[in-house]
Amino acid sequence: MPNNRAHWGSRLAFILAAAGSAIGLGNIWKFPYITGVNGGGAFVILYLFCIFAVGVPILISEMYIGQKAQCNNVQAFRKLASGNKWGPLAGWLGLGSAFMILSFYSVVGGWILDFEFRAITHLLTGDFTDFEDGAALNSLLGNPWRQLAWHAVFMSLVTWIVYRGVKEGLEKWNKILMPTLMGLLVLLFIRVMFLEGFSEAFSFLFSPDFSKLTGDGALEAVGHSFFTLSLGMGAIMVYGSYLDENENLVKTSLAVAFLDTLIALLAGLVIFSIVFTYDLDASAGPGLIFATLPTLFNKMTGGSLLSIAFFFMITFAAITSAVSILEVVIAYWSEHKKVSREKASLIIGFIMFAVGVLHVFSTNLWSDIFNILGKTNFFDLFDLLTSSYMLPIGGVMIALFYGWVLGPQSVDNTIKDDNPVLKLGLLWACRLIAPLLVVIILYSKVKELFA
Ligand code: PHE
Repeated sequence: MPNNRAHWGSRLAFILAAAGSAIGLGNIWKFPYITGVNGGGAFVILYLFCIFAVGVPILISEMYIGQKAQCNNVQAFRKLASGNKWGPLAGWLGLGSAFMILSFYSVVGGWILDFEFRAITHLLTGDFTDFEDGAALNSLLGNPWRQLAWHAVFMSLVTWIVYRGVKEGLEKWNKILMPTLMGLLVLLFIRVMFLEGFSEAFSFLFSPDFSKLTGDGALEAVGHSFFTLSLGMGAIMVYGSYLDENENLVKTSLAVAFLDTLIALLAGLVIFSIVFTYDLDASAGPGLIFATLPTLFNKMTGGSLLSIAFFFMITFAAITSAVSILEVVIAYWSEHKKVSREKASLIIGFIMFAVGVLHVFSTNLWSDIFNILGKTNFFDLFDLLTSSYMLPIGGVMIALFYGWVLGPQSVDNTIKDDNPVLKLGLLWACRLIAPLLVVIILYSKVKELFA
């Protein structure tokens, strides 16, 4: 292990950082709205199954590869299996996914900052009208310059944290932002428990009606389990590479998967309790937290403070995920090309900002000219390509590398105690179950594209 390589200060620091990566817009924005669109309970059960049957084994594989190799992702595959040609491909694919995901993630991060700013302004001015009927979202989408400004602020914050390094940047900020995020969520949860819609929200999420589950919903559940656990592009792998070699990965990854799931479910309960209290429809789609929820905050006692807490919570979730995406590229560039971390962060941060500009313009100024694969903006196109294809493919490559190339010996190293059932389960989840499920989704997705 190179002596100068940074390491997390403690196990908790790593868990908070990995959970920080996992818990993000995927949990608080995407999970509630796709659950709403897919009818609730049955979708949630399938999602939980995917998290534990596919997600956790790949989470363990990523952590293991990073921890063992103690270097950036592309080199990690080379180092662990010299001569294996497709291993580094997973590393390259991950770099591509990182560019694509962060460029749109940061634009949405900017929207959240804008909403936070508005929520604070409301408290000062007493004027809440822009939170009515999606007005804030519409005006933002129609105003590229405002979006660009917030996108620049978001990207600067993320770049700054990565610029500061593993200990002073990633570890320090995850340690501050993650507990604060959880505290805010608990406060919001306590508040919504007193709302009329709480019990309805509870049964919406937890009493399954399988007749509401469609094929598309099932595919979405598998795809989302990759996105929400940050799998398939090496974010967890690069964090694993800053981990001491004797860390118990099974417990750690279960803790991360548990926290990620808990936060998604709590966020779902908070959002749906509010939505059902006002008899609104759960299936509003992507506008759920940007259009539906703000209107409702205006109707609630203490809604103004709640909206501030809510948007702070998502801001923190988004920042701690975004830094892990940027770190994938920075670790590679600074280690492999021997560029300083500082210089790499500034340059890559700027390039990602520039790609994000395309997203901003494709929703307004250029909306007429854009149409690829049936998607009318860059944002949807990049989301489709990464969440539905690149992350699952990357995840399967990682699982296959762990299951077949590294093989039973690595499973023995991962699960240190003598538990043959667990070992076999992990080995075959990586060798067969996860790849099979992904092949099924990819097949149906591709079929749908050409239908
Ligand atoms: N897991 C993050 C979320 O739920 C998104 C993410 C995807 C982060 C891939 C890193 C890598 O929002």
